[in-house]
Amino acid sequence: MSRAQHINSIAGAVVGPVVQAHTVTAETIVLHAHDRRLPVPRQIPPPARTWVDRAEELDRLDSLLAAAGATRVVVTGLGGVGKTCLAVRWLDRHHDRHPDDVLHIDLNGWSGHPPPTTGQVLAGWLRALGVAADDLPGNVAELTALYRTVTSDKALAVLIDHARSADQVQPLVSATARGTTLVTSHQSPVTSHQSPVTSHHRLAGLAVVGFRTLDLDCFPAATEAALPAGLLDGDRRPIGHELLRALADRCHGHPLALTIAGAHLAAHPRRDPHD
Ligand SMILES: Nc1ncnc2c1ncn2[C@@H]1O[C@H](COP(=O)(O)OP(=O)(O)OP(=O)(O)O)[C@@H](O)[C@H]1O
Ligand SMILES: [Mg+2]
Repeated sequence: MSRAQHINSIAGAVVGPVVQAHTVTAETIVLHAHDRRLPVPRQIPPPARTWVDRAEELDRLDSLLAAAGATRVVVTGLGGVGKTCLAVRWLDRHHDRHPDDVLHIDLNGWSGHPPPTTGQVLAGWLRALGVAADDLPGNVAELTALYRTVTSDKALAVLIDHARSADQVQPLVSATARGTTLVTSHQSPVTSHQSPVTSHHRLAGLAVVGFRTLDLDCFPAATEAALPAGLLDGDRRPIGHELLRALADRCHGHPLALTIAGAHLAAHPRRDPHD
């Protein structure tokens, strides 16, 4: 059988392994392993377009995370108070501290949507970290062990957003000593009318595994008007400082309320902010 009758040729981009059939004749055979390298995961959401400085809170996060052995912080506070924005900002600022990977998951907290299961989160992260889908173990205990193994020596940042309980968070905490884990969760004030099973109680287990807490508040009066001001672009009717202050007062410095009010004003520039 002459060689000319059996020429295997491949053209174009080839994805996945290639098997050559029939008799392979050559003086040198080079086997190419399939290149599975994925980009380094950088999963945090983009920082807020208009940023009102939270210098004090960022410094506080710095010191909580710098304390020996404490690289785990849970940011708590009312819904819309800016927990996710603060965590994202801190991670963005300290990008160079986590050269290996930055992982993020939204556990859907109080959104009304079901949370992803631990297995789903770990499988997604492991795939992002380069583990082939075929190599993922089938049960959560093994997925957790593999996640810890893969991340054991990484300078890794993990943002676990909108957690309801310590049970959801614990298996997602990497064992690396070079990493940072930030968790966000609502704060449910304990009142005599409420069940004692509030978020504080549900999150209590996190303190046991070394989490420190940062309680976030609304903007102070000195900075609250900056958010709607930043959302009004220069072409719009400029609204004076007094009116911005009035708007901010009405929103009690609550970041989400200020964002909605500012965006509404930007979209309807003729409306009076007192309306
Ligand atoms: N420092 C800030 N500068 C500018 N805007 C901010 C800031 N903090 C929060 N915001 C605005 O407030 C909105 C709500 O913030 P964020 O989503 O961080 O709140 P949250 O506390 O995480 O809310 P939830 O409890 O629902 O998770 C953001 O979409 C953003 O527009
Ligand atoms: Mg949030």
